[in-house]
Amino acid sequence: MQELKDRIMRDGRCLEGGILKVDNFINHQMDPMLMKACAIEFVRLFANEKFNKIVTIEASGIAPAILVGSLLNLPVVFAKKKVPSTMDNYLMTEVFSFTKRRSYEIVVDKRFLGPNDRVLFIDDFLANGNAAKGVLDLVNKSGASLAGMGFIIEKAFQQGGEELRRQGIHVESLAIVESLDNCEIKLR
Ligand code: G4P
Ligand code: NA
Ligand code: NA
Repeated sequence: MQELKDRIMRDGRCLEGGILKVDNFINHQMDPMLMKACAIEFVRLFANEKFNKIVTIEASGIAPAILVGSLLNLPVVFAKKKVPSTMDNYLMTEVFSFTKRRSYEIVVDKRFLGPNDRVLFIDDFLANGNAAKGVLDLVNKSGASLAGMGFIIEKAFQQGGEELRRQGIHVESLAIVESLDNCEIKLR
């Protein structure tokens, strides 16, 4: 998606360790017009898939997910990173965060994900794919099925995209970062 690629080149910053900082339009300040354009592109890319629900993980996935949901008139469920004390009937899985070098649990209430659901997963980044694999585990545990996974930015030099596609999952990324070597952003 050209508009997104132009924005990454203009406002994205490279951090040590292969991290792309996009906090002035995705991860801290958000650009709702760009997010909406991303959502329209997701809708186009997944037009041939059938699903009744959008799923994401808090926090940064919520904005693009909700815009996709609003375009398609579908509910959006976000997996939570803390178990609310008021939640008693939930599915849980563990996610290892490569960037934070620790594991965390994600949960979803069984009332919002079950055997009658077929879901589209939307998130901001695909790096190692651990967050995506965690959600896939929740989807499987719930008896739901997965229609596809859409990411705003995929880092092709990490293994997530390859692993998910090898499992036969329909993965779409709106911008693909080939390399951040020498703090130079190279997009596909
Ligand atoms: P993975 O989910 O693909 O395995 O990646 P990883 O564990 O490395 O990612 C952990 C968090 O860091 C995720 O957000 C992910 O979206 C984000 N992330 C991964 N690589 C980059 C990057 O190069 N740049 C930026 N800006 N973020 C990256 P999170 O911790 O769940 O946080 P959030 O969704 O609340 O922002
Ligand atoms: Na995220
Ligand atoms: Na993030």
